[in-house]
Formats: sequence, C-alpha cells, structure tokens
Amino acid sequence: MRIYLDNAATTPLDAEVIEEMCSVMKNNFGNPSSIHGFGRETKVLIENARKKVAGFLNVSPGEIIFTSGGTEANNTAIYGSIHDLGITHAITSPIEHHAVLHTLENLAHKGKIKLSLVKLHKNGDVDLAHLEELLKSNPRSFVSLMHANNEIGNLLPFKEVSNLCRENNAIFHSDTVQSMAHYPMNLQEMNVDYVTCAAHKFHGPKGVGFLYINSNVKIKPFIHGGAQERNMRGGTENLYGIVGLAKAMEVAYTQMNEHQTHIRGIKNYMITRLKDEIAGVEFNGDSASENSLYTVLNVCFPATENAEMFLFNLDIYGIAASGGSACSSGSNQGSHVLRAVNCDMSRPCVRFSFSKYTTKNEIDYCIEKVKTIYPALIQL
Ligand SMILES: Cc1ncc(COP(=O)(O)O)c(C=O)c1O
Repeated sequence: MRIYLDNAATTPLDAEVIEEMCSVMKNNFGNPSSIHGFGRETKVLIENARKKVAGFLNVSPGEIIFTSGGTEANNTAIYGSIHDLGITHAITSPIEHHAVLHTLENLAHKGKIKLSLVKLHKNGDVDLAHLEELLKSNPRSFVSLMHANNEIGNLLPFKEVSNLCRENNAIFHSDTVQSMAHYPMNLQEMNVDYVTCAAHKFHGPKGVGFLYINSNVKIKPFIHGGAQERNMRGGTENLYGIVGLAKAMEVAYTQMNEHQTHIRGIKNYMITRLKDEIAGVEFNGDSASENSLYTVLNVCFPATENAEMFLFNLDIYGIAASGGSACSSGSNQGSHVLRAVNCDMSRPCVRFSFSKYTTKNEIDYCIEKVKTIYPALIQL
C-alpha cells in the first residue's frame, strides 16, 4: 500500500491536465515569438491560458506574468520592488517560505534594505498591532506576508493586512502558492500588489507558475532577455506548462466547493481519530482550527524514544508525509516555522497534507500504522 499525504509539497497531475498537455505536445511546437503560423498557434494557446487565469482572479490578462514557479514569482516581486520602486524597508514574518525569507534576508545582508520581522501570536498568526506599528514608523515599506502557511496552515486576515498596507502607502506582496486554486480569489477586492502561484500545488505541472502584478506597480524584469511576457520575463515560454497550469486551474475552479468539503472532512476525521486514539497528541500552529488551510494538518506526537525514526517508519509502511521537527526533518535545526511558533522540537512533528484524491480508508490505514509504530519505537 502506498499512501500520499504530502500534497503541500506537491500534488499528482490531474488526468484532464495530462490530456490537455499531451494534445498540445503532439500538435503544437512553434516558438510563440515566431511570426509564422506555427508560432502564432502557440502564441494563441499561451494568451488563452493567460486570459483564463486572469478571468478566475478578476484581473486583466496583462497583469499575469508566467514564471518557472513560486520561487521565481516571489523573487521577481521582491527584487523588482526593492530595485525599481525605491523601497528601503521591508516587513515580513519569520514563518514565510524560504523563497521569500532568504531573498529578503539576502537583500538586507547586502545593505539594500532594512528588514523587520513582524511579531506572531502564539498560534503563528500575524500580530496586526505590531504590523501597524512597523508600517507607521516606516512609511512606504514593502510588505510580504503569505496567504496560507505551507507548514502550519495559518491563514492571513487578508483584507485587514491590505487595508493597513494601503493606509500606510506600503506595497503588499502575498505568497499565495498554497491557497491559489484552493480558494476563490477576487484580486481586485483583495487589493494587493502581487500574488504568486505554482501550478504543481493544484494538480498542474511542475516548473510553471505566475506572478500577478497590479497594473499600478511598475517594475522591471527579473530575468532579462527577449521580449516575452510583455517584456517582463525573457526566455521562450514553457508552452506545455502554461497550458497545463490554466487547465489545472479550470479543473480546480469547476469543483472547488466539492473538493473543499471533501478535504475538510478528511482533515477533521484525522483530527478526531488522532485526539481519540493517541494520548497527548497536539497540533502545531493553527492547523487544527476550522479557520486554517484545509489541506494541511501539522501533528505534534507525544515524546517517544527514537523519535527520529518516526517518519522513516511511516515511509516503510508506504505513507508519505513531511517532517518538521529536528528529529524528523533530517536537519539538526528542524523547521524554521515550527521553531518560530515554539514547538517542542524533540517530539516527532509530522505534516500531513491532503488532496481531492485522499480517502478516509487511507487515513484509517495511516492511524493504524501510527499506533503500530509507537510501541515499536520504544522497544528499539
Ligand atoms: C508557500 C510556498 N511558497 C513558495 C513555494 C515555492 O514554489 P516552487 O516550488 O514552485 O518554486 C512553495 C513550494 O513549496 C510554497 O509552499
């Protein structure tokens, strides 16, 4: 039996996405920049994909720039804002993805910006009063706060943050890699300057994503070269990836409510079984609350001998999940996110993440194996 509970890392491709991509792979190969018929055909496919994506987000197609994924999209927004908008102060949180945190830390290290980290509440939520303080004492800041945390599932109070940013003349970037195509998003209403996407988080292909850039913000390219992506990103477009991304988004939007209900049900079922059957189990961050990212559950298991063997044992039983604590992540320090929310890093912490394909039977199997692993670890 092989069970995949690591959907926040990546998701399997949807069959409809594979079909759409294969059809384009078989029938279209022209360079979208070529002016002949072969090129015009693929250009149309890309522009149709852009229109589709823009339509779902209620923005104009010119505000969508396809990239190689979430990391590049985040880097483009950050570098562009710091280099081209004359910004010298940035605000982020200690639990951002490294694609944001390391990029900003690197700019601070080089002396290009001063970087402030906003305080968090105990559960990992952003302390909005502190954010406001930082904004007021640093007018015209660049703010980068993720919509949904990939490890502990906290959701940002988006509208409150965007209002604070607008009131204080700040530029607002949000890493929406984990929430894109999982929640409806009306970017006009959300009043944000940049959001980012990686298609492989919602059953699309790897190596493709996009950056939404609000038309009010004028930045220069991050990757220089040809005039592709309306002069915003040089390089021949990832045609098959872009087509796959748009199809994955379409599939996700068609059945978003059903999938959300199904996945939320799976997550709540796992929470209940863990609470009932594993004494002393806890949940990290906000991941067990109703108001968290419905695809992610971060479990802090009770302390046990040989805790570092926990994830390895799950893998032996065919269960794929991610570690977070020092003992389960393969790194001495463990996850920067769990550390920031003061999790007990000597306990085995495991992030289980779900998709529309996850079944209740799989959760049953997982719980049974967890119950087998525990006594075995103590006897090792
Ligand atoms: C929140 C978040 N941001 C950014 C990324 C990076 O995306 P990509 O792997 O497409 O570069 C990820 C992927 O793990 C993520 O979870």
